[in-house]
Amino acid sequence: MLQIDRLSHSFKNGSEVTAVLRDISFRVHKGQMVALLGSSGSGKSTLLHLMAGLMKPTEGDILIAGHNIVSMSENRLAEFRRHHIGFIFQAYELLANLTVRENIELPLVFQSVQPSVRRKKALALLEQVGIPEKAELFPSQLSGGQQQRVSIARSLITEPSVIFADEPTGNLDTRTEEEILAILKELNKALDTTFVIVTHEREVAAQTEHILSLRDGYLITERQGFAEASLTGGPAIAIT
Ligand SMILES: Nc1ncnc2c1ncn2[C@@H]1O[C@H](COP(=O)(O)OP(=O)(O)OP(=O)(O)O)[C@@H](O)[C@H]1O
Ligand SMILES: [Mg+2]
Repeated sequence: MLQIDRLSHSFKNGSEVTAVLRDISFRVHKGQMVALLGSSGSGKSTLLHLMAGLMKPTEGDILIAGHNIVSMSENRLAEFRRHHIGFIFQAYELLANLTVRENIELPLVFQSVQPSVRRKKALALLEQVGIPEKAELFPSQLSGGQQQRVSIARSLITEPSVIFADEPTGNLDTRTEEEILAILKELNKALDTTFVIVTHEREVAAQTEHILSLRDGYLITERQGFAEASLTGGPAIAIT
């Protein structure tokens, strides 16, 4: 579903070049839920933005559902992203002047889907994230956890091949964080959607099937149970 091949990325500021990601390769299969773990500045958001097609890598390939997004033209990529890629942000990024239901429907507006069809799908997803009664409220009338539920529903409405989430529980208290993670796990199981979730918290990562860990721009692939071993310098599992 998601295949990363020899990906490297550097940022240039004038004559200064900062290497952020170095020769990263891994695969995520359909329906997997993977955590991308690493300390602040290790390159997690950069890797997520590259995989979501928000910028182009310095080197390497990114295949989503068999399509190489690195070689796509801007127009083709924009179209591809609308159908295949979902994104959940730490700060929700809902539009303040649209209702909850309209926010969830928005990606389908860009696909010119009929209003009655959009509405039905949005309401069904709102039910799945547990706040059907909030449909006609505005984002400012919701708690942070509820706003993140809306943002999750919005990311799912196009039935994307993969959903990328950048610290989706970073602004929430521990109890709400657990609720949001439970919802993501439930949706992952129910819909077989592939999730890559960035976090710097080991407890969040421990909730997922697989852990990819970034350190100094290099990737260490971990699985449940092996996480501590490789953190303390033990053997890392080979990357596929
Ligand atoms: N546009 C940019 N120009 C130059 N350097 C950048 C740019 N964006 C990110 N970087 C650098 O790349 C490195 C990785 O940043 P990134 O945001 O990917 O880290 P992160 O792992 O997401 O950190 P955090 O947990 O704090 O969100 C940092 O050293 C950062 O300064
Ligand atoms: Mg980040």
